[in-house]
Amino acid sequence: MQIFRTKSTAADGTCDAGLHRCLSAFDLTFLGIGAIIGTGIFVLTGIAAATQSGPAVVLSFVVAGVACAFAALAYSELASAVGGCGSAYGYSYVAFGELVAWIIGWDLILEYGIATAAVANGWAGYFNNALTAIGLSLPDYLTKAPKLGGLINLPAAGIVLVLMVLLAIGVRESTRVNAVMVFVKLVTITVFVAIAAFHVNPANWHPFMPFGWFGHTPEGKPVGVLAGAAIVFFAYIGFDAVSTAAEEARNPQRDIPIGIIGSLIFCTFIYILVAGLLTGIVPYTALDVPSPVAHSLQLLGINWASAMVATGVIAGLTTVMLVLYYGLTRVFFAMARDGLLPPVFGEVNEKTRTPVRVIVLCGLLIAATAGMIPLGDLAELVNIGTLAAFVLVCLGVIVLRITQPHLHRPFRNPLNPLFPALGMLSCGALMAFLPAMTWARFGIWLVIGLVVYFGYSIRHSALARQGKQG
Ligand code: ALA
Repeated sequence: MQIFRTKSTAADGTCDAGLHRCLSAFDLTFLGIGAIIGTGIFVLTGIAAATQSGPAVVLSFVVAGVACAFAALAYSELASAVGGCGSAYGYSYVAFGELVAWIIGWDLILEYGIATAAVANGWAGYFNNALTAIGLSLPDYLTKAPKLGGLINLPAAGIVLVLMVLLAIGVRESTRVNAVMVFVKLVTITVFVAIAAFHVNPANWHPFMPFGWFGHTPEGKPVGVLAGAAIVFFAYIGFDAVSTAAEEARNPQRDIPIGIIGSLIFCTFIYILVAGLLTGIVPYTALDVPSPVAHSLQLLGINWASAMVATGVIAGLTTVMLVLYYGLTRVFFAMARDGLLPPVFGEVNEKTRTPVRVIVLCGLLIAATAGMIPLGDLAELVNIGTLAAFVLVCLGVIVLRITQPHLHRPFRNPLNPLFPALGMLSCGALMAFLPAMTWARFGIWLVIGLVVYFGYSIRHSALARQGKQG
């Protein structure tokens, strides 16, 4: 059986929805790397090392990476067999039906939207540092969210609006910009690694695990390597965004798995290397700052490298936002096409061949969120939402193997159902290490989603319309 959700119908290569097929396996892997390496490695590694894991943050990356590897295999199977631009949303639709699909789609909106705003905050931190370094610093009230004593984080909101224009112009232009930025990011990391490798002081790796595997602070906040893993998990988010580009891939059934798995393997290697070196060149206690990678080079007295790394990070974080934002608009697009959201979200602009209205609406909302809410509050929420999506995608692999055993699967999980089950277990376990407040916020988001579903979507969906006609 063949249920691939998007078949190319037109001679010019456009699929039935009208998106333009222009991305190769190379573009997709770059898209993945563009989304993955960002705030997680450049900002959260330092915070996790200083407050959660110590030098054993390397192990936190390994733990989170293993959970993501299982999820990546599940995504690859479903992306190649089910396809569609809606990623986990589309797969849940096929595996579980409309209600679960709605929940996961609503969850992905949280993941991509809030993650874009969170990374915009990290970007703004580096950007503000750069402005200060050249004597052009903005006043405090324009660089901080109200909760932190400011009025608005203007650079965070501003960068989102710039990306909004870029995405609206067209995906081809955006991926080209992405490729250049990814290159800059990789050069930045190479510079850091090349310098740090010659400045390691093994004494900095002792004690290796100052917070143990798992514990709590007196205030009840989880600490330890596993709690650190639940935080640095953020660093891996983005490989799943590759699957949202399925309708713009030239050969999605072959290239999407290559993009997902290739970018994840590459980034895991980089993370372990960078985290190991970062905690090797300075004491982990010195890393609880907004720009730990640049800061560590400053502590070594190598200021030119610090400035160079900071510049590269600004470029690197831009690509992360670009891909996450891109993913968000495609999830909206897919949900609107299924009637779960108003049709306006599914319209493609004839001239640019991109869903311009969705891009603009999302851009305005994300810019407001990025400007008004601080990074910490945003990042935790992103992780729980993403982990929940991963659990459902892994479950989807198992369910579809049972309900549709003859489905054509160009990519198959090895050792089914063991691998997807391990994915559910490891992602679920990471969720358990997140703070109670994060669970509460996530619960509220899901309740709002259910209100929208039962208030609008259930009556307007394609399924409901089919039912009425039938
Ligand atoms: N993985 C992305 C980052 O680290 C979201 O910023």
